[in-house]
Amino acid sequence: MAGVLSNPLRPAILAAARSSRIERAITRAPVTKSLVERFVAGESRADALAAAGRILGSGRAVSIDYLGEDITDPAQARATVEEYLVLVSDLGGLPGAAGSPDFCPLEVSVKLSALGQGLPAGGEEIALGHARAICAAAQRHGVWVTIDAEDHSRTDSTLSIVRELRSDFPWLGAVLQAYLYRTENDCRALSGPGSRIRLCKGAYREPESVAYQSRADVDASYRRCLDVLAAGDGYPMVATHDPAMISVADEMLTRRDGDAEGFEHQMLYGIRDLEQLRLVEAGRRMRVYVPYGTAWYGYFMRRLAERPSNLKFFLRSTLTRS
Ligand code: FDA
Repeated sequence: MAGVLSNPLRPAILAAARSSRIERAITRAPVTKSLVERFVAGESRADALAAAGRILGSGRAVSIDYLGEDITDPAQARATVEEYLVLVSDLGGLPGAAGSPDFCPLEVSVKLSALGQGLPAGGEEIALGHARAICAAAQRHGVWVTIDAEDHSRTDSTLSIVRELRSDFPWLGAVLQAYLYRTENDCRALSGPGSRIRLCKGAYREPESVAYQSRADVDASYRRCLDVLAAGDGYPMVATHDPAMISVADEMLTRRDGDAEGFEHQMLYGIRDLEQLRLVEAGRRMRVYVPYGTAWYGYFMRRLAERPSNLKFFLRSTLTRS
């Protein structure tokens, strides 16, 4: 089975994900768009809301991500906030989206680097202010927010922003990446009562000094992090498509609570749809991460890097059409 770090081309693809020259070439290739559609709901908010409506109709919850990362211009950050403010308002108005006090089927996912975290002058403060505005609007419209995890150089800043925001918005979710050595401790520190933690394996290219490099080590870390979360009082969000991790988590967390209400499974749009529906059928909470927007390049490249067969399919389609 293909795994998170078993693809020998992964480092090269993840390096290409940060190259503007390769981005220009790939985004202009005529074939790319139809492949991107497998992983991205569309370019417009209307596309994302239509996809969300279909997903909610099948008994799954959603987390919508307006694509974009590493912005370098404060105006771009403000435009991203504006988009999220309209998104949470539209999302709150979707039919069939009523939740319960402990479970909201509507969520948005936000990358702090899209809100200005990396800006040279006061980036962290700017991102905190923007994230606060999104959380306040989300709260008014009955929508949850989770802050995505990006590369390790941002982890301290991101978790300190999460902690700050949680004093006003205790429902705010955080993402932790099992491939980082530090994550077991972060799980311990963050799994207080009700704390929503999305545990994923991690999608960026990280050096050996901070992250496990082999699939076996990442999987072992994922299991240890699950142990920590299961022993805590938080609300784990099990973000993986890996059948082994899904069944370990499911078994561990249903045993902990005596039912399946104290956690949820999460997967990405377009990946293992039948498994998503099987989990719903089995009475599990299942949330789908739905990205949209024109800035899909980095996200798309990370999906190609995760699975050699996605890359092969992409290359074969590109070569046969050119
Ligand atoms: P693994 O890569 O081992 O895959 C297990 C199986 O899942 C594969 O054999 C295949 O069947 C299927 N699969 C996995 N990826 C696939 C793909 N691209 N195409 C087709 N099939 C695929 N990362 C991060 O660094 N920061 C973040 O904030 C997030 N957020 C996030 C939210 C949610 C809801 C999910 C599900 C994932 C993330 N991730 C993330 C991504 C995550 O870190 C990881 O890169 C991917 O989920 C792939 O790892 P798996 O756990 O699925 O296992």
